[in-house]
Amino acid sequence: MMGTVTTQVTGLKHYDQYIGGRWAGARSGQRLETVNPFTGQAWATVPRSGAADVDQAVQAARAAFDDGPWGRLTGRERGRLMRRLAAVIAEHADEVAAVEVTDNGKLIREMAGQIQGLPDYYEYFAGAADKIHGETIPADRSNFFIYTVREPAGVVGAITPWNSPVLLMSWKLAPALAAGCTFVVKPAEQAPASTLEFARLVEEAGFPPGVFNVVTGLGPEAGGPLTEHPGVDKVAFTGSTATGVRVMKGAAEHLARVSLELGGKSPNIVFADADLDAAANGVVAGIFAATGQTCMAGSRLLVQEDVYDDLVDRIAARAGQIRLGDPLDPATEMGPVAFAGHLAKVQDCIAAGVDSGARLITGGRRPTADGLAAGYFIEPTLFSEVDNEMPLAREEIFGPVLAAIRFADEDQALAIANSSPYGLAAGVWTRDVQRAHRMALGLRAGTIWVNAYRSVGPMAPFGGFKASGFGRENGLAAVAEYTELKTVWIELSGATRDPFKLG
Ligand code: NAI
Ligand code: MG
Repeated sequence: MMGTVTTQVTGLKHYDQYIGGRWAGARSGQRLETVNPFTGQAWATVPRSGAADVDQAVQAARAAFDDGPWGRLTGRERGRLMRRLAAVIAEHADEVAAVEVTDNGKLIREMAGQIQGLPDYYEYFAGAADKIHGETIPADRSNFFIYTVREPAGVVGAITPWNSPVLLMSWKLAPALAAGCTFVVKPAEQAPASTLEFARLVEEAGFPPGVFNVVTGLGPEAGGPLTEHPGVDKVAFTGSTATGVRVMKGAAEHLARVSLELGGKSPNIVFADADLDAAANGVVAGIFAATGQTCMAGSRLLVQEDVYDDLVDRIAARAGQIRLGDPLDPATEMGPVAFAGHLAKVQDCIAAGVDSGARLITGGRRPTADGLAAGYFIEPTLFSEVDNEMPLAREEIFGPVLAAIRFADEDQALAIANSSPYGLAAGVWTRDVQRAHRMALGLRAGTIWVNAYRSVGPMAPFGGFKASGFGRENGLAAVAEYTELKTVWIELSGATRDPFKLG
């Protein structure tokens, strides 16, 4: 394949990055290794890029936007190219999924479906590409005709995390391409390979050079220069809240527009009148799927006191049966966390949870079973009797660690749920339709699921309140993030006016 070489000696796969339609290493010649978290061994290398590489990529994207054929395409033509990309992705979905699993340890069981579902995002936004338009506005005086035009924002600088690199990039790329933007992405250094595989698909689909570019490297060395580059018009970031703040400061220096999809401490709220089997299943899906490494993890479990013990017992029992193993085995239910440093962080959070006085019900250790020792595994972990003020309930762990909290009534549930620095998502489990709607309106979070958890799709806007960030991905709302609104006033009468009055 273009852009990769496998060395016979080490067996490592060497990826190049993709800038202006060409595959190349970093200017410095340096490389970074990326590790397979199941084996604990490096399996590939990528260019270690710096400001010079980022500059080249932004210039390529700038040229494609300002002077290239891309800028002259109609929305319909962009949509056609995006549909071709969707078809190419569908053809190669299994390869991209396998690479992502190798690089970040996510389950093939999840990734196969996630990447097979990726074309849906490009098709949805391809359908939007020829429907991005302004409106005519009735003027408050008879001699004017006013209309608006939606134009592409320009060059997008995207920075993505390691947990679902290609999906979370697509949440940015699909609306950006629909709007007519060009794109430079810097994937996370822990799992950069799938984004480079994806670049090959963009190339195969026939996008003009410079429309889509990938630079790989460390956050401060490559991500920093991308957010600070004056040639970037819009920065789209997914990752931690702390880095999001830094990214926004970098973008502020040149007044680039910013959207931030950050962390969460999302509550799963179970009322006594809920279908407890369904709720238990949803709670497990919310925190143990993807080894808890998702921004929308339902990491706080709020349970009404009458059913608290029953539900905690059920979840503990299920957590104890979760099958840990090789992420490439379709029977595996939970894989390792994505890298060694992250395992250490999750372990520290568990130790701090024990010290805080919460009760460790199950899990908390590294599993000792055969075949798991080399990987970055941690057992599914459940704490009960958690107080909402404890770090276990306030800080994002981003691992398979659930904190169970007791509540008496709806008002208290809402107060606890909303007392969080974050506001990304929430789940409500009840059979009472009025309560479901009251809760949905009362919760301060960007997505509310009723009797469901962790459902997403191209048609449904997703994003945060509070420290979970701002801006929306997916849905038609996402297109607005990648467009500028221009207002045009047309004078109709030809008469002259008083030059010293506003109007
Ligand atoms: P991070 O936010 O530092 O990394 C995300 C991306 O930002 C990566 O591509 C990284 O290279 C880049 N980056 C890092 N420093 C940068 C800088 N100064 N300028 C520009 N880009 C920079 O997240 P990290 O350290 O991998 O994980 C730490 C915690 O963040 C996790 O434990 C979890 O709590 C949270 N997180 C949340 C995610 C989400 O989906 N909302 C995804 C990944 C992490
Ligand atoms: Mg890796």
